[in-house]
Amino acid sequence: PKKLSFADRLLGWFDVHGRHDLPWQSPRDAYRVWLSEVMLQQTQVATVIPYFDRFIKALPTLPDLAEADEDTVLALWSGLGYYRRARFLHAAAKQCVALHGGELPRDYDALAALPGIGRSTAGAILAQAHGLRFPILDGNVKRVMTRFHGIHGHPGQSAIEKQLWALADKHTPAARAADYTQAIMDLGATLCVRSRPACEECPMSVDCVAFRDDLTGQLPSTKPG
Ligand code: ADE
Repeated sequence: PKKLSFADRLLGWFDVHGRHDLPWQSPRDAYRVWLSEVMLQQTQVATVIPYFDRFIKALPTLPDLAEADEDTVLALWSGLGYYRRARFLHAAAKQCVALHGGELPRDYDALAALPGIGRSTAGAILAQAHGLRFPILDGNVKRVMTRFHGIHGHPGQSAIEKQLWALADKHTPAARAADYTQAIMDLGATLCVRSRPACEECPMSVDCVAFRDDLTGQLPSTKPG
């Protein structure tokens, strides 16, 4: 029998064990996905949820955010930290009103040009909001890729990062792009965690180099070089 692809194996796990009830998953629109991704850049899901609910209740649409006072936006962010994220979010909303008809652009380059939206966040938005096939590579996905493929070297190093993007791209399926994106983040956040990963429960361990070679404690490499 043909071996399951990385994506099919991961999606099979996600259907049973992934998170399907996150507030930005339904209703799903680009503004809600964007807000969640920016909040999740430095903060865990459980912490983000009540902030997300409060923010979306106060400012339910992108134009509402664009028109809000800076003080209002910062008050809604208060407690999440990294306030630069809130300032970028506000500035990006204003740019979307000025340049993109009050919506987030569907174009990758236009999206990644907005304040606070890098390559990974742009991909996460396009995949989750529009089902488009774009890879993501945040800290969780870097950890999964370095372990699964047994990649040594600091993931922040440009040659390694380039390799990780190529692998992230290779594994991203055309079908179920939104679910795949959530699935790989859920795997990194719940099983393939930094210390004491739950390899015995992991659907990917059958093909994982770090598991096979007992390297999960060494990967991802911490120091450059
Ligand atoms: N980190 C960034 N985006 C995330 C998401 N959608 N779910 C879980 N963790 C995340």
